[in-house]
Order: sequence, then C-alpha cells, then structure tokens
Amino acid sequence: MPELRCINCGRKHRPDERIYTCPACNGLLEVTIDLDKISVNKSDIENRKPGVWRYREFLPVKEGSKIITLEEGGTPLYRAKNLEKELGIKELYIKNEGANPSGSFKDRGMTVGVSKAIELGATSVGCASTGNTSASLAAYAGKAGIKCIVLLPAGKIAIGKLAQAVLHGALVVGIRGNFDIALKLIREAGEKLNIYLLNSINPWRLEGQKTQGYEILDQMSWEVPDRIIVPVGNCGNISSIWKGLKEFREYGFCDTLPIMTGIQAEGAAPVVHAFENRREDITPIGDPDTLATAIRIGAPVNAPKALTALKESKGLAKAVTDEEIISAQKLIARKEGIGVEPASASSIAGLIKLLDNGTIQRDERIVCITTGHALKDPEAIFNNYEKPVEIDPDINVLKDLLRS
Ligand code: F0G
Repeated sequence: MPELRCINCGRKHRPDERIYTCPACNGLLEVTIDLDKISVNKSDIENRKPGVWRYREFLPVKEGSKIITLEEGGTPLYRAKNLEKELGIKELYIKNEGANPSGSFKDRGMTVGVSKAIELGATSVGCASTGNTSASLAAYAGKAGIKCIVLLPAGKIAIGKLAQAVLHGALVVGIRGNFDIALKLIREAGEKLNIYLLNSINPWRLEGQKTQGYEILDQMSWEVPDRIIVPVGNCGNISSIWKGLKEFREYGFCDTLPIMTGIQAEGAAPVVHAFENRREDITPIGDPDTLATAIRIGAPVNAPKALTALKESKGLAKAVTDEEIISAQKLIARKEGIGVEPASASSIAGLIKLLDNGTIQRDERIVCITTGHALKDPEAIFNNYEKPVEIDPDINVLKDLLRS
C-alpha cells in the first residue's frame, strides 16, 4: 500500500487520510511507492497501449478502484530535426503534452487525482488555476459525475482555458487577485467547505504527472536523455517528472538520470532567483507578471520539491523574457509544425538561451517538454504575430497581395 511521507519531517501518514500537507509540520507530502512489491518487466509494459495507465503498477490507486480516465498520456515524442539544424545541435526531442485530451499535461495528474478523490468518497473537487488545471479538472469531474469549482485570477486567464472550464460545467469563479491569492482561498475552502483539493499540492495528482518521466524513457527505448527541460510555474511538474525518473532507476529500468532544467518567465521567476542565489527556499514575488499566464506565479507551493530535483540532478533554473518566449513559440510552430501556448514555449526559449551562453553542449541528447496546446491562448497569437489580411474576392487584388 502506498503511503504519504512528509518531505520535511519524514513522518508517514495513512493513504486514506484526506490531507494535503503534513499535519505535524505543514511540510509537503510525497507518495511513497513500494517498488519491492512491484513485479513487471519492460516488455510487459511495452505490450500495453500507450498512456498513463500503461504504468499502473507504479500508480497509487487501490485494486478494484474506479479509474476516471480520458485516455490521457501517450503523447508524441517528436524528433525535432528542423530545429536541430536551425540551432546547430545533435539530438533534440519535443515531448508534446499539448496532445493530451484537454490540451495539457494536467490530464495525467487528474486521471489519478480524480480517481483518488472518488476512492476517498469526495463529491466535490476544486482548484485554483492559471487555466489549464481548471480546464482539466472540469473535464475529469464531469466524467466522474462530481461537482467542480475553479477559482481563477480574474482577467488573467487565457480564453481557451476559461472556455473549457465553462464547457465542462465547472462553477467558474473569478478572483480579484492573482493565482497565489486564489490558491490560498481554495486551500481554505478545502478545509472549511468540504471541497477535495486538486492543485499540485495534492501529492496523488503528481503521481499521474510522473508518468511523463516514465514515458520519455519508454519512448526512447529506455535510453536516458542527457537533459530534460521543463517550464516551471507552481513547481509540481518538474518535481513529478524527477520522481518518476528516480523510481524507474531504482526499479532497474535505467542506470542513469538526466539533468533537470527548469525555465521560468523573467517576471515570475522565484525559483530561478533561489537557484542563482544558492538558497534552499524561495522568496515569493508579490506581483508576478508575464504574458505566459500559465506560469504567472509568484509563490510556487512545490518549490522545495523542485529545488531538490534541481539539486539532485545537478540541474539548473533559468529565466527567459516574454520576447524570447514568443520567438521560441514561433520557431517551433513554423519549423516543426507544433503549436504550443507561450508557457510551453519557455522550454525551447530556455534551450536557446542556454545554448547561446554555453551552458548546454551542442552534442547533448535533449528533451524539451511543451506543456500546453497553442489554442489554449489564441489572444497571445493575435497580439504578437502578423495580422491576417482581408480583401475583396478579386483575383487581381490577390495577385497584388502575393506580389507584395
Ligand atoms: N505549462 C503550462 C502550460 C501550465 O499550465 C503550467 C501550470 C506549467 C507549465 C507549470 O507547471 O505549475 O507544475 O510548475 N499551470 C497551473 C494551472 C499552475 O493552474 O494550470 P507547474
């Protein structure tokens, strides 16, 4: 049976306790999987269909529990040959998490998190969100037939994500404040209003997201890349990917581990500041700002886990500007045909920056995670790209236009 362990004081807690942080010291919790009890080999896994549940032995749901799934995971790992040429590098892969059912990696977390919520008897779930978490949770709560409330920083959510939460029937509430403030409020609501919380503070949810790490190894024929580059906001994703990779190494599926590289937007980069100042904790930013609204976060709750991942993997964190993000978004859209939202493009922007300053070697095997689909945020495209033109239906006008 998996347990919950506090990463701060080490205390263990029962898996059926409805807690999100350690009741003794308020530290972050981590799910411990007893790898000794698992007996599965690579070919067993390879014979199953792609997706999160391909790795079911490593996921913490009880035997016989109802699984709420939209067949998430199994996303493409593209070899980015055109970008390799453009950037003068040897081996680059793009793990496109935007290809998940609701268009982001959050679905991996929600299939496990919402299944766990049902296991624990929850009848309503909630989250604060910069958009993707709410879109995903709304979809999975709909599938599970439970109530869903999402708190969003009013006016700061990409329109596609907001539309998804409405479409799937969540109670959508705009909060006059940023994501960090909304998260504080939903955590209080979790305690006082009997809402089961599915932000990445919830350790069960991160168990689903760790399958990105599993899947990268599986898709690379169990060869370990040198580096994985991940956009970082609330710090859940980079931590969960690292956890998955470590588990597969401990289980014996690989011998080495990649260098984890976290990328933040310059106006919302508390992890980068902590990393650069060699600090063990972050100093929250009161007024985070970036056009990459998904990662517009000043007080990431999972920062201790992310900083540990960076330390253990001898990795690093780097900030990129909004201009670098848009330019990277354009590059992968036009060179590789992959449309991603701005936050997602930060991994590519970070790669370019770290190549330019000599931190990343040109012969490394690199995987960039792109976290969310381009259509999540059409406004970012219309505001930053060439405007479409309109003409009368006349061949000569069209001819002139093509000439110009
Ligand atoms: N990329 C995208 C597209 C995201 O939506 C997020 C987080 C991240 C990267 C960062 O991941 O928080 O685990 O470090 N979005 C959250 C949300 C905060 O509410 O949708 P993280």
